[in-house]
Amino acid sequence: MIRSVVRGVGASLPSRLVKNADLAGIVETSDEWIVQRTGIRQRYLASHDETTASLGEAAARAALDHAGLTPADIDLIVLATSTPNNTFPATAVEIQNRLGMHHGFAFDMQAVCSGFVFAVTTADAYLRGGLAKRALVIGAETFSRILDWSDRSTCVLFGDGAGAIVLEAQEGIGTIADRGVLAASLRSDGSHKEKLYVDGGVSTTQTVGHLRMEGREVFKHAVGMITDVIEATFGEAKITADELDWFVPHQANKRIIDASARKLGIADEKVVVTVDQHGNTSAASVPLALSVAVADGRIKKGDLVLLEAMGGGFTWGAVLLRW
Ligand code: ACO
Repeated sequence: MIRSVVRGVGASLPSRLVKNADLAGIVETSDEWIVQRTGIRQRYLASHDETTASLGEAAARAALDHAGLTPADIDLIVLATSTPNNTFPATAVEIQNRLGMHHGFAFDMQAVCSGFVFAVTTADAYLRGGLAKRALVIGAETFSRILDWSDRSTCVLFGDGAGAIVLEAQEGIGTIADRGVLAASLRSDGSHKEKLYVDGGVSTTQTVGHLRMEGREVFKHAVGMITDVIEATFGEAKITADELDWFVPHQANKRIIDASARKLGIADEKVVVTVDQHGNTSAASVPLALSVAVADGRIKKGDLVLLEAMGGGFTWGAVLLRW
């Protein structure tokens, strides 16, 4: 059977580093509050000339270099983002053009913080269905552009950035010994819209709007939703948490990550945490974390890796893959 195997990973961060203490000059907050409640110590914010497309392009180029491939080798781009450069065309198509690609096809996927997990499963379905051979799967965001910088309960939580992987269709034998995407579980429930949304839009206000979140309410649902979808993925693959090499969760809040890992019985040393460095970069957070853990030698070829995310909608999902 065909498996979607990771050939390369890359990332890109904006040039402007903003520490917690820097935010204390904008809203009434402190490094102590932010670290204690979220684990975040710093984030990178896009300058005027940095956009979702430019960050996504840089991450895509880094992933291609890591894979030893060029844009000519790619025939599908799936970009997970909630902060596109324009309402249309899809920012994926802009990235395709920036890469000098005039073949294949590209489109955006919108599942907020779960976007990358949804995009990986989508690209996997296209590769297994024979519609493409090699896919760039990108998560890229500029959430700083939709934050209300007078709302301390949200503006301290998010950062900008991008991460990408190259997935390639390869023959597998159909067991979990295969490399590539092995199992996945996706969910959404629109009845939670008011807990995490942007208060503007094309068809309603004709404005971009600002992010609004009832943080405590999101927190209350997060751990249960995350663990449910991971247990479904473990069930599909017929594995237990002990067999995992690495858990790469969405990086929204260290307390949510810790509580989820504890409930699932995943040892602390197997959890990749980058929320302290990047803040919550929405759809970029999982590929950014992947690129850090591959670059520092933790994630290696053959490792069993679990990706997970939960975000606005609500949307949530998990992907199990062998690196
Ligand atoms: N600095 C200082 N004090 C603050 C700040 C701040 N930046 N923000 C809020 N506070 C205050 C509040 O006003 C409140 O004060 P009060 O008790 O006097 O009313 C107090 O701190 C506690 O506020 P809570 O909201 O209860 O704090 P909590 O411990 O819940 O932490 C947080 C808030 C970090 C937002 C947490 O609820 C959280 O992480 N929620 C989940 C976020 C998430 O995972 N989102 C999903 C992904 S995002 C996406 O999909 C786009």
